[in-house]
Amino acid sequence: MKLHGLDLELTGWFQVAWSGDIGPDQVVPLRYFGRDLVAYRGKDGVVRVHDRYCRHLGASLAHGGCVVDEGIQCPFHGWVWAPDGHNVSIPYQSRPNKGRKLGAWPVVERNESIYVWFDHAGREPYWEVPEALKNTPHAAVRDFHPAWPDGREHYRDLRAHPQMVVENAVDPHHFCFVHHTPISPIVLEEKVEGPTWWARVGFGRRWRDHAYDEAGLLSRDSANTIELLWSGMGVSVNVEHTRDGVRVITINITPVEDGKTELFATYWVDRVDGDEADGSYQRRLDEAKLALPDDINIWNNQIFLDPPSLATEEASGFRRIRRWTRQFFPGDGTNNGPTGLDAPRAPGVEKLEANPS
Ligand code: FES
Ligand SMILES: [Fe+2]
Repeated sequence: MKLHGLDLELTGWFQVAWSGDIGPDQVVPLRYFGRDLVAYRGKDGVVRVHDRYCRHLGASLAHGGCVVDEGIQCPFHGWVWAPDGHNVSIPYQSRPNKGRKLGAWPVVERNESIYVWFDHAGREPYWEVPEALKNTPHAAVRDFHPAWPDGREHYRDLRAHPQMVVENAVDPHHFCFVHHTPISPIVLEEKVEGPTWWARVGFGRRWRDHAYDEAGLLSRDSANTIELLWSGMGVSVNVEHTRDGVRVITINITPVEDGKTELFATYWVDRVDGDEADGSYQRRLDEAKLALPDDINIWNNQIFLDPPSLATEEASGFRRIRRWTRQFFPGDGTNNGPTGLDAPRAPGVEKLEANPS
């Protein structure tokens, strides 16, 4: 699977649905990672994702399959497949077929969302999906409206490679042009560790003029900042502290098949007494959703340039993030990822390991 010449078989957690899409006893077809999949919510309430086709004679478990105590039952001859993929029942034979196994994908339900782990090398998950609302101190102390059902947008049939979306983390200068901010924000802090890239960006003159000379300001004050967290290339959490309160947005891009991706955007706005009755919740939710379509319009029509031509000031960020994303691409990272900017590691950036420590 490729898009713009870049591999799409990326290691990591990728969103495939919202929790509300898969209700009790519900079975739904999914197509991601170039595979036909089936998802269902078991009798125990846990969501599972499997390869879609029954290992008996190939019926689709997503079209008429049903949830039973032991797992999912095929609509064709009633064979039952357990959560680990093993066949546990053939209704017209005393023993199951112990040798037959249905592919079972690692799944996490968090942030009102369903995430599936993909790894080209078949490794087990080696990092966790972050808790979006607990991610920063100023968000963790607030109460948020649930994102379901209104705080979500699903963009399908995109030609945006996750690499393009990730590079937003080092691209403050697009804000003036794409989002019409009066001045570019500045990156106040950055921490990169294993599969995690975290940055805090400050907006407005106060941050531009005072970020570096007032030592205590960073830790005391989060006003007019966005904290960006990338957890692999598939999951990102933005915590935006505006004049109007705090909003948390996850922007998650998922490979679908050759040449195609999807983007799941989820929006949480902090709760203020009476804000539903007076309409301010709806207004703030609408405002939170304004920026992303403008980014998508760029990403979806962009080509991936390798190497790009960068201004002096931005070169280091792009260089480092392109080195960082290599760990998620197939192979050993030397010839299969975005490789155009091969420069020494920036000071303060740790050695990145592709494997679990
Ligand atoms: S094809 Fe599934 S039970 Fe026969
Ligand atoms: Fe943007």
